[in-house]
Amino acid sequence: MVGQDVRARDLPRVPLDAYLDMHRVNQVVQRAMSETALAREEIPEAGLYKHILQATPPVIKQLRGRVIYDCRGNPAVEAEVVTAKGKFRASAPSGAMPPGRYEAFELRDKVPSQFHGKGVQRAIKHINEVIAPAIVGMNPSYQQEIDDIMTQMLDGTGNLSKLGANTILSVSMAVCKAGAVECALPLYRYIGEMVGNSQFVLPVPAFNVINGGLLASNHLSVKEFLILPVGANSFTEAMRMGTEVYHHLKALIKVKYGQDAINVGDEGGFTPPLNDNSDALDLIVDAIDKAGYTGKVRISLDIAATSMLTEDGTYDMDFKKYSGMATRTGDEMIALYEEYCERYPIVSIEDPFHQDDFENTSNFTALGLCQVVGDELLASRPQRVAAAAQAKVCNALLLKMNQVGTISEALQAAYLAKEARWDIVAGHRSGESEDPFLADLAVGLACGQIKAGAPCRSERLAKYNQLLRIEEDLGKAAVFANGANYRSMPYTKRT
Ligand code: PGA
Ligand code: ZN
Repeated sequence: MVGQDVRARDLPRVPLDAYLDMHRVNQVVQRAMSETALAREEIPEAGLYKHILQATPPVIKQLRGRVIYDCRGNPAVEAEVVTAKGKFRASAPSGAMPPGRYEAFELRDKVPSQFHGKGVQRAIKHINEVIAPAIVGMNPSYQQEIDDIMTQMLDGTGNLSKLGANTILSVSMAVCKAGAVECALPLYRYIGEMVGNSQFVLPVPAFNVINGGLLASNHLSVKEFLILPVGANSFTEAMRMGTEVYHHLKALIKVKYGQDAINVGDEGGFTPPLNDNSDALDLIVDAIDKAGYTGKVRISLDIAATSMLTEDGTYDMDFKKYSGMATRTGDEMIALYEEYCERYPIVSIEDPFHQDDFENTSNFTALGLCQVVGDELLASRPQRVAAAAQAKVCNALLLKMNQVGTISEALQAAYLAKEARWDIVAGHRSGESEDPFLADLAVGLACGQIKAGAPCRSERLAKYNQLLRIEEDLGKAAVFANGANYRSMPYTKRT
């Protein structure tokens, strides 16, 4: 059996009049007719259809799971929610191995002969046989209730290890899309409604243009080298700046390192055969200059330092080459970051230390050199955000939905970050599908920044292209988080 279907297949046949009465068909049609007339709908037939559809019960009729494939060619979970108003599909992304210690659990079949153990058949079964019977019949705009049923009643483990965060998040996202349509709102507005935000902000894109760390087979230890067009006047202009710098970078790498060096990594950034992180930074500075955007396009780094910690508590910046040869203490790492910030136009550093190293991270944050983002450090978990905010460990949240597993908890983590006056970066994963949900999340929460990879590969562009559509949809009301505004965009609370 695939999913749960509440359609009544074998209802006894009733006389026509009784059927019309029973379903109040005349009243529904009359009402839709007057609404169509009152609105002076341009195409009356289309208006009639819209108003009749709005009158259908707000109910999840069916939920099913299916296997799709992510950008790395690994199986991924897709959930499909069916209501009278349509089919709503969503897919949870997946990080690179190994996941951070505090992330919610990603369920894989672990059958070595199938997909190298990465199958998701159990997750699909959970959607069809455990979650569907519990939420079919519910109103999809009851996001919190549905998320609570999945996490507390059906899973109950605290880290989603029974049903899987990939299982639960896919459903949670699909429910959210269905809820938005039920409320006749675009997804970003609906998400804004849920948190009481009415200031929709187009985020500054952080394009990961050079991939290192676990995302690439070169020797660069820093995982991501990103560019932020903070000097753009609109998201549309930021896309132009980002793509132009990206193509200048490609040309520079080709001239310096040859044709083989312009292949791209998991997030669409180039993976040139460099040894030294500062060589990558020099290339980027050059590309920004060639594109004519010096001063307008800044740089950010995701160090992902959890993978650099050695057994004696030092950090190995050369961990991909000859491990143990160039280790640094916390203070020496801070000195290196200071040097980077001085030499390059760096505005943000993510995970500068191990996920449990609050001490060094807060020492670095206290210097006030740049935005300090917590990714594995916070795991998008409300409890971790609250603890880190209180101890002033960092000053920005990387919001990755699948680290926490439901939309409701992701919104709660964002709320706590805003309360602490932190910046929020809406974050994709290295294993992505073409689902653009993250773009709507970023705008609805007024995140100010989005990190969705390079402006290359369609699973990355799916998010950026959706932001172009949202900017167009907002028209004159569109606010772009440029200049100083890309940090700490407040919610405008409804009164
Ligand atoms: P991941 O990378 O999805 O592989 O964890 C993204 C990040 O570190 O921000
Ligand atoms: Zn990261």
